Amino acid sequence: MHLGLDIGTSGVKGLLMTEDFGVVASCGAELTVSRPKTGWAEQDPDDWIAAVRSVIDGLRASFPEAFSALRSIGLSGQMHGAVLLDENDRVLRPCILWNDSRSHSECAELEVRAPFRETGGNIVMPGFTAPKVRWVEKHEPEVFRRIRKVLLPKDYVRLWLTGEHVAEMSDAAGTLWLDVAHRRWSPELLSATNLTEAQMPRLVEGTEKSGALRAELAGEWGIARVPVAGGGGDNAATACGMGVVRPGTGFVSLGTSGVLFAACDCYSPNTEQALHTFCHAVPGLWHHMGVILAAVDSLAWLGRVTGHSAPDLTAMLPDRISRPAASVFLPYLSGERTPHNLPWPAGTFANLSMSTELPDMVQAVLEGVSYAFLDCKAALEAAGTRLDRAFVVGGGARCSQWREILSSVCGIELLVPKSGDFGAAYGAAKLGVACLADGALEDIITVPEVDLVIRPDPMLQDAYAERFAEFSGLSGRVRTNTSEFRPASKSGLDQKSGRAQAT
Ligand code: XUL
Repeated sequence: MHLGLDIGTSGVKGLLMTEDFGVVASCGAELTVSRPKTGWAEQDPDDWIAAVRSVIDGLRASFPEAFSALRSIGLSGQMHGAVLLDENDRVLRPCILWNDSRSHSECAELEVRAPFRETGGNIVMPGFTAPKVRWVEKHEPEVFRRIRKVLLPKDYVRLWLTGEHVAEMSDAAGTLWLDVAHRRWSPELLSATNLTEAQMPRLVEGTEKSGALRAELAGEWGIARVPVAGGGGDNAATACGMGVVRPGTGFVSLGTSGVLFAACDCYSPNTEQALHTFCHAVPGLWHHMGVILAAVDSLAWLGRVTGHSAPDLTAMLPDRISRPAASVFLPYLSGERTPHNLPWPAGTFANLSMSTELPDMVQAVLEGVSYAFLDCKAALEAAGTRLDRAFVVGGGARCSQWREILSSVCGIELLVPKSGDFGAAYGAAKLGVACLADGALEDIITVPEVDLVIRPDPMLQDAYAERFAEFSGLSGRVRTNTSEFRPASKSGLDQKSGRAQAT
């Protein structure tokens, strides 16, 4: 039996997998995000530990036999968050998360200090770790002075599980301190943020053992001191769950954020279009990723402002979409990463008229997110990666109209895996198997059976190509005018406590 643990943003998930890769059980615990100011997003790292404890207690209580047969643990998690620890491994401040945009001016500073694009393979964007820590240095120098280690979210959980400071390549690449081509920390990039390699965790590959479960936890849970695999950032781990390791294979994730992921066998960044170029969780491979900050989140937003749930909104659509919506939507509600690198919100609805009804706006939201994926596909192609087919996963993939729109807009076949759980926790559990297996990965990182293939509809494709030109014109204008969208700094609500926070 193997345990995969995914430290997500909205919750922790634990999944038990058998020796032949069947899912026996899964259990979740929710997490909340604190947003003390506009654009900020933070979590208390000890909330992750409490959530992991509750997930493990749940699995042990419901599946005691399966749990006691545990042979490995694999980790995955939300990427980029900065967990800052003092010399006693105490957390110095709440973790600044991947979707926190406070560090946009620090990004501009770092870009000119060191070759982040050449060595780190990526534009310096507020989502990544390095500019967050530069922000801490400027605004909380006392905290910065006391930093002894910087860990990523899942690696803080690893520290609790094993007592070891370890990161693996896929997540480490998202810090911007990694020499992504050579899979090692870059002293030059670290020194641009006044840090040294001594403040970084030891590096392993995702398929390697990173440590063993602490004796104290093993005793408490009644199991052996099983190995904990390196694991992967949530997207790389998801890819491992779906066998997306061959160059030219990929997946689309329609989650809170949207990801177009493709595996590749060489390091070929495209920083001009804010493409993400990271190491894969498997040795000798890299991956490209176009990232859209608000995918299902765009629909959730429309639901909030109209008083409907997301499923209620999509139920307003006809079963089959026959033409593009009249209105056009730009999904930049939280700014955007690929291809624009917009640090400020710039969501836009265009072509509204007195006769616009809500179903048209719902369709426009699904289309706007799909056009954003087409932008990501073009960014991948400019880096030499062509995707003609890709798995589709995530909550939004349950909406058949969205899958059809996405396929016709992007001109790719979408593969729906046969029912099963192919999320990041599953991929993490497979990386746990890999760390026991001395290399033979092809029998572990396997491709799931396909249940359904969604092919582009030629009629819709033509209509969408025309409408995409309109979307591109609008997004080009928004991109040049981003400074107009800079929000005034103001206090917000702490979502966790519901209390207003002083700024
Ligand atoms: C990837 C990214 C997100 C988070 C979400 O660069 O920021 O996919 O990992 O969990």
